[in-house]
Amino acid sequence: MKGLLITLEGIDGSGKSTAAKIIASRLAETMPERRLVLTAEPTTGEVGRILRSEMAIACGEETSAASRMQELFLFMADHAQHLSKTVLPALETGAIVLSDRYADSTAAYQGVTLKGIVPDPVSWIQSIYRPWNLLPDKTLLFVLDPSSALQRLQSRRGREKFERLEFLRFVDENFRRMAALEPERFMRIDAEQDAEKVAKEAINAVLNLICK
Ligand code: TYD
Repeated sequence: MKGLLITLEGIDGSGKSTAAKIIASRLAETMPERRLVLTAEPTTGEVGRILRSEMAIACGEETSAASRMQELFLFMADHAQHLSKTVLPALETGAIVLSDRYADSTAAYQGVTLKGIVPDPVSWIQSIYRPWNLLPDKTLLFVLDPSSALQRLQSRRGREKFERLEFLRFVDENFRRMAALEPERFMRIDAEQDAEKVAKEAINAVLNLICK
């Protein structure tokens, strides 16, 4: 049986992590015979742990070009390790791999943090990935207005919140552009709806893909 790689992407607060868990439990119920691997980036491996402790840059803080590059390469190293140690071996066994974020997040997020440091950062990042990355069979993009997403997170105030909103607007723009350029791979999920409906739409998309 052929393995299947499905990735979930979207800005912070888009509800994709909740949807991933619901999809995983629904798939386990409906197809108990099929092996399912639920995974995520940043990972919980060595590089993922470094990333999580240094996540300040992903939050749009003022940092040097060098630390932004450091962050990019950490995300890439984490992705390479994720691919070789988890994703590829699981696909070999015919599993359905559901990844909460994948290389597209790096293009969308670091495509913002690297503005002004490298020309056309989204395409530049994608060109580094192209020779060795495995493209997902399907990418579910959870789309919603960044201000609704931020309201859901509710953890930031004042200036910090304003800066985060600006940052997420650029990330959102990158995701939308990337999806428009690859309409076969990306499927947009309306994440403005309540969590139940979002999960239902995502499950239907995944079931359609598996049963094709
Ligand atoms: P994530 O663990 O998905 O966040 P959450 O707390 O919503 O579960 O990701 C953490 C942050 O890292 C998030 O703001 C997105 C960012 N990120 C990047 O900037 N580049 C990347 O390549 C990835 C995978 C995540």
